[in-house]
Amino acid sequence: MAVITVRGLTRTFTLKSGPVHAVRGLDLTVADGEILGFLGPNGAGKTTTLRMLTTLLPPSGGEAEVAGHDLLADPAGVRRRIGYVAQSGGLDPACPVREELVTQGRLHRLSPADARERAAELAADLGLTEFLDRPTGALSGGWRRRVEIALGLVNRPAVLFLDEPTTGLDPGGRAELWDLVRRVRADHGTTVFLTTHYLDEAETLSDRIVVVDAGAVAAEGTPADLKARYGGPTLQDAFLAITGRAPVAV
Ligand SMILES: Nc1ncnc2c1ncn2[C@@H]1O[C@H](COP(=O)(O)OP(=O)(O)O)[C@@H](O)[C@H]1O
Ligand SMILES: [Mg+2]
Repeated sequence: MAVITVRGLTRTFTLKSGPVHAVRGLDLTVADGEILGFLGPNGAGKTTTLRMLTTLLPPSGGEAEVAGHDLLADPAGVRRRIGYVAQSGGLDPACPVREELVTQGRLHRLSPADARERAAELAADLGLTEFLDRPTGALSGGWRRRVEIALGLVNRPAVLFLDEPTTGLDPGGRAELWDLVRRVRADHGTTVFLTTHYLDEAETLSDRIVVVDAGAVAAEGTPADLKARYGGPTLQDAFLAITGRAPVAV
C-alpha cells in the first residue's frame, strides 16, 4: 500500500533575475514501510520536494497524499503523521536534550506528563538517556543528529523524512545512524524518506531509489535495478549515466 502518492508536484521560485523551476512535475509513490533513497545532484530539487511534502512550503502545482491525508486540503493532518529532520539541524545549543524532547511533545499536544514520559521512552530507545540533562551544544555531531531524529519520532510518525542525515558525520557516526534508521523501520514499521548525496548510504539503506534531476524523476528502482539498467558495477556509475554528473558537487 502506498503511504505517499505525488502527482505533478511543481514549485517555482520567483526571483528578480527570473523564475527558478526547482521542482517541475514530480510523480512518485512510496510504499508503506519502505526506506526510499531520494537522490540527485546538488540543486536537483530534493530539499524543495521534502519541504513541500512536509507542508513547510506550498507547492506551485500538483497534488500529493501523505500518510492518509491530502497535502493541500489537510496539511495539519499530514503534520500529525510525519516527522521531519531538516538538512541543517534546528537544535538550540544551550537547551538540554530532555527539554528539546519535552517541548516537541508539547508541540504535538501531549500533556506535560505525557511529554516527559515520551521523552524518557525515546531517550531509552535511542541510547540518549545519559545525555538527557546535557545541553545539545555539548554533544558530538553524531549524537546531536540522534537527538534531531528523536525529535522527529516524538509523535510516532508513519513517515520519517530525513534530509541528508549523515552530512558532516565521520564514518563511524554515519554507520551508527544507518543502524538507527534500520531499527526505526524494523521496530515501528516507519516509512523512511531519505535524501542523500552519498551513494554508499543510499545503496546500503534503501529498498528503492528515486533519482531526481532538474526537478523531475530521472530514474527509479532498487539499487540492483539501477545498476543493471544504467551500467555498473557501482551505483556511482549508474548515477553518472542517469544524471551526467557526479553525486557530490565540489
Ligand atoms: N527559497 C528559494 N528561493 C529561490 N530558489 C531556491 C529556493 N530554494 C531552492 N531554490 C533553488 O531551487 C533549486 C533546487 O534546490 P534544492 O531543492 O535545495 O535542491 P537539492 O536539495 O536537491 O540540492 C536550486 O536551483 C535552488 O537554488
Ligand atoms: Mg538539499
